[in-house]
Amino acid sequence: MDQLLVALDVDTVAKARDLANQLRGIAGGFKVGSRLFTSKGPSLVEELVSNGDRVFLDLKFHDIPNTVAGAVAAATRLGVWMLNVHASGGSAMMRAAREAADDESARRSRPAPLIIAVTMLTSLDQQALTEIGLQASVADQVGRLAALAEAAGLDGVVASPQEIDIIRRRCGTSFSIVTPGIRGASDKRGDQSRTMSAPEALTAGATYLVVGRPILEAADPRAAAEKIAADCRGAHASG
Ligand code: C5P
Repeated sequence: MDQLLVALDVDTVAKARDLANQLRGIAGGFKVGSRLFTSKGPSLVEELVSNGDRVFLDLKFHDIPNTVAGAVAAATRLGVWMLNVHASGGSAMMRAAREAADDESARRSRPAPLIIAVTMLTSLDQQALTEIGLQASVADQVGRLAALAEAAGLDGVVASPQEIDIIRRRCGTSFSIVTPGIRGASDKRGDQSRTMSAPEALTAGATYLVVGRPILEAADPRAAAEKIAADCRGAHASG
């Protein structure tokens, strides 16, 4: 299922490799985040890319434009399919990211990675926003940052299922929405409080789904991923 991105939130290359081997063909890509990347570096990313996997490098770059441009160019050289930056780094930083990805991929005659913006971390609530000096509501801030990301030429945003509607109203239909917080009826919520099932999130307008623990912690990860894909096909067929 092209839209299903599995978060490889594990500590070892062996576990990540094993999961990727089990899930290849059913997952549309693998997300490598700061946990695995910080401990194991880029070699796993290179390995996945060389196996033909689509890799979403989830390092949420947020720095001065020149530094972010350098990091994005390096990620492009690794051959990642998607990467992300914080929209709150501002328009100049996001434009620098776009330019670096486009320039580096043109030099290598390969497609540019998709660049996705993080608007508001879903762990931040209204009180946390006020604490850092922002008076806007979470919804307004998400909408504002998504529009800024689109104007800077980015391809989409990461958004909780509840934010999809606001973003779809502010940004075009070709703007990608990458949605974590996916849980089936019988899955443990864990630390995710605002969740939707995979078919619900797609119906709400998500472009890609990021799923971690419901697949990683299943006795049979491949069967869990296949069930998610089947549920989505079923919802689509009856919807
Ligand atoms: O295990 P679970 O399905 O909750 O994993 C969701 C993944 O998406 C994790 O890698 C988490 O870091 C990531 N994520 C998230 N919420 C965000 C952004 C990223 O859960 N707002």
